Amino acid sequence: MQARLIPNLNSSNDLDAVVVLVHQMEEGQAPDSQVEAWTGGLLSDFAARKEFRGKTLETAVVHRPTGLDTARLLLVGLGAEKDQNAAAVRRACAVAARALKNKGVRRLAVVPTAGLGADLTAQAIVEGVGLTSWEPDVYKTADRPDGAIEELLVVAGEGEQGLTRGVAIADGRNYARALGNEPGNILTPTELADRARAMAADAGLECDVIEEEQLEQMGCGALLGVAQGSVEPPVMIVLRYEPENASDPDMHLGLVGKAVTFDTGGISIKPSASMDEMKYDMAGGAAMLGAMKAIAALKPSVAVTAIVPSVENMPGAAAQRPGDVVTSLSGKTIEVLNTDAEGRLILADALTYAQRLGCTHLVDAATLTGSVVVALGHERGGVYTNDEEWQAKLLASSEAAGEKMWAMPMDDEYKEQLKSPIADLPNIGTRWGGSITAAIFLKQFADPTPWIHLDIAGTAWHDSNKPDIPKGPTGVAVATLVDLALSL
Ligand code: BES
Ligand code: ZN
Ligand code: ZN
Repeated sequence: MQARLIPNLNSSNDLDAVVVLVHQMEEGQAPDSQVEAWTGGLLSDFAARKEFRGKTLETAVVHRPTGLDTARLLLVGLGAEKDQNAAAVRRACAVAARALKNKGVRRLAVVPTAGLGADLTAQAIVEGVGLTSWEPDVYKTADRPDGAIEELLVVAGEGEQGLTRGVAIADGRNYARALGNEPGNILTPTELADRARAMAADAGLECDVIEEEQLEQMGCGALLGVAQGSVEPPVMIVLRYEPENASDPDMHLGLVGKAVTFDTGGISIKPSASMDEMKYDMAGGAAMLGAMKAIAALKPSVAVTAIVPSVENMPGAAAQRPGDVVTSLSGKTIEVLNTDAEGRLILADALTYAQRLGCTHLVDAATLTGSVVVALGHERGGVYTNDEEWQAKLLASSEAAGEKMWAMPMDDEYKEQLKSPIADLPNIGTRWGGSITAAIFLKQFADPTPWIHLDIAGTAWHDSNKPDIPKGPTGVAVATLVDLALSL
């Protein structure tokens, strides 16, 4: 999708549709005079008849609007003006674009409201419309609704920087969604590495893929233990972005993402109901690759390295057994009490490796535990840290990006659960506080580097259609991580 700014609309723009964002109109409030004129007085009519008042995601269509070169104008409600935020604009635009693209609309203009600032508004509009460029029906050979919005005009005199950010973030997020959608038989660790290599070449990033033999030489025993039950060899994907002028040459951001291309649970096998969803157990890794794609386009002034360990967790004849002891890259030994707690094993080695590569600040993202879904549902992801200051930065970015997250506790008392009679630590605690003990496990491999863990098990996948996004992978964390990199 192409996006650009256009200062105003006239009678010769040749548009398939115009979307006008409208704040909720209170009783007796006069409508915006420009919108009233385009609709030929219908806006106040709609308000009086309660047909359309600008409530959140309320819509109304006006055909052949006055003074505009388009067949239709779509009014979309943003809700009360006092509650305005970028997320409402993003959602409204996604809903509008989804409705219009299946009606043959390719060239679309969006008329924003004032109040949020030109850059934030332009960014939210482009992100919202851009989100609709990708759909999960890629393997359908029939009945695919056609097309996407090809050209988006944002009606504003300024906001170029926001527009550019919006395009890159939507693109990175759709890239991550597309990876999360791929089935396990197609997206193996080797295939993920191939795609990362191709993306890196295209985006101008350096890419190294560490293969099985080298992982053995390095001593990545925690990662290799998970991989050994599968015929698919494991990889560790490394992508590098170097800024031209680093704002702080001592800072090096490391983005570590869990990429289990399919998680059967291994010998501690999962029940079959919904096991198909475990194809998205690579969503953390996909988010890091999507963020790197956007980072390559937006060129923040900090060095960023993504480290994506990728394996398939299978119960093969060579699979690791519950009770096995493995030696991680850090040298710490781990008693694998449950082979389904595999994400933390591959992340342990990746976190160690990230520090060896010189990363000074770490963020990991992982579909790590069912427990975080019990705690926070599908609305917010869990945030865990060993450094409150670093966490405050990430939470500010998550707020700015409109990706809801929640800081979870990390008290030392939880560590009591991680005692093994035979090795340095077990890979599971008790049933209680499972997402926290998983994070405490990771902390043993991240310390002393400032580190944040994002448990996105509940937010990386929607199991039903939403007005703004279809059922399937969400691309969560890309927008937050890009905002974070740009803020450093
Ligand atoms: N990939 C799963 C976590 C998960 C669950 C992601 C639901 C998305 C939705 C992870 O590898 C796992 O199986 N975790 C176990 C850990 C347990 C054995 C301590 C879990 O959460 O049940
Ligand atoms: Zn698992
Ligand atoms: Zn998993």
